[in-house]
Amino acid sequence: MTIQTLAIVGGQWGDEGKGKIVDCLSARTDAVVRFQGGHNAGHTLVSDNRKVVVHLIPAGILHQHVRAFIGNGVVLSLDALQKEMSSVAEHARDLSERLRISEDCTLLLPSHAALDQARESSKGKRAIGTTSRGIGPAYEDKIARRGIKVHDLLNANILSEKVTVLLDYHNFLLSERYGAPQVDAGDVLDFLSGAAEWVTPMITDVSSDVSKLIDEGKRVLFEGAQGVLLDIDHGTYPYVTSSNTGTGAIATGGGIPVSRVNHVMAIIKAYTTRVGAGPFPTELNDETGQRIAERGAEFGATTGRPRRCGWFDAVTVRRAHQLNDFDGVCITKLDVLDGFDTIKICTDYRVRDTVSNNMSCNAKNLGECEPIYEEIPGWNESTLGTTRYADLPRNAKKYLDSIAELCGVPIDIISTGPERKHTIFNEALANWI
Ligand code: GDP
Ligand code: IMO
Ligand code: MG
Repeated sequence: MTIQTLAIVGGQWGDEGKGKIVDCLSARTDAVVRFQGGHNAGHTLVSDNRKVVVHLIPAGILHQHVRAFIGNGVVLSLDALQKEMSSVAEHARDLSERLRISEDCTLLLPSHAALDQARESSKGKRAIGTTSRGIGPAYEDKIARRGIKVHDLLNANILSEKVTVLLDYHNFLLSERYGAPQVDAGDVLDFLSGAAEWVTPMITDVSSDVSKLIDEGKRVLFEGAQGVLLDIDHGTYPYVTSSNTGTGAIATGGGIPVSRVNHVMAIIKAYTTRVGAGPFPTELNDETGQRIAERGAEFGATTGRPRRCGWFDAVTVRRAHQLNDFDGVCITKLDVLDGFDTIKICTDYRVRDTVSNNMSCNAKNLGECEPIYEEIPGWNESTLGTTRYADLPRNAKKYLDSIAELCGVPIDIISTGPERKHTIFNEALANWI
């Protein structure tokens, strides 16, 4: 089947390399759509040694022909967007003509970030380890029907009234509940009123625009943020982000029914990482974990925090597949595992006296699991930058086959380095590249 619409989602705890793959595939993509999350995301794009990190702007933007959409499911900080637009402007010609924002996005305000930080501090040891960007509080306000929407920017009176009411509530919580400094409502209103001027020309009905592009036969890529194990419903709750991170969010947060998506690809690392707190059954708190972290340069693209590292966990990826019906996977960072004598894959969990290979990934369940490993031989050759499958070491191929078999999903792409060109494409995407 010819693929015209493609979804890219994180298959683990985020930072799998989604940005690199979206950027790669965007060379022959007409539009890229973000549909959930906010500037908690950090997607790294590397080409010819030039590194660009995007948080809100869809990762296809470096390609001058790509139209970029921020869907209604994104919680949008206009302050962060403005800064990001300035920082990528030199790499992305005609940015403001190519970037469009849904009129129905919920705005993320400085008081959301203040609340996020105050809540995290008050939790002490139980802190989630959020990115402190205000993501949770912004989604709370959206669901509680008191959020400020992008279309509210178009009416000064409505904007003023809503900001006053919302900031009153936020400031009550900040000072009375958390003993934290208040946020000046006048400053927030001034900023938003000023922002209305530069945002208004970018406001659109994303559902209609993207539907039309699909009707016209254009190629559309949906760019997920975070990963399935950080999903608010299916992840390691409460150690999750506050949005749905799987393919269902394309419909709710992009306005495009999932039935219009031809191919769903999960991006998964050849091992596992996570940032922030929460259970992580295959975590390695030893030299091996440190070696993976160093070789993989595992520091957060948004907060710079060190990422926790561990072996590949086939149980959680299989669960992610059950929830999202992946058509294929892209396995990234294979090169990071070069030079290990043996490599472990978690095939099942031991939970007290029983062996299990499928369960809800909430924190209670995963917190009780002990990984059961299969150990397979590693390889000594360097795979960094390999572009042909045939050139991979025999044991690397075996390792990839084991992952595909254990997860029950074919491999669409193998990534062997951070650069666009460090990529091996399989047949499934032959028409796209
Ligand atoms: P995302 O959030 O899923 O887009 O991933 P991040 O950008 O936060 O983190 C992935 C990191 O790995 C970035 O620094 C990428 O440049 C880098 N990266 C992506 N693919 C590969 C790969 O195949 N090998 C290596 N060594 N680095 C990679
Ligand atoms: P990308 O798109 C990795 C994690 C945070 C924290 C939890 C909740 O780059 O893969 P939040 O600020 O969302 O309320 O934090 O989720 N987290 C991510 N981890 N990659 C991300 O995005 C993440 N976005 C949020 O570290 O544990
Ligand atoms: Mg990231």
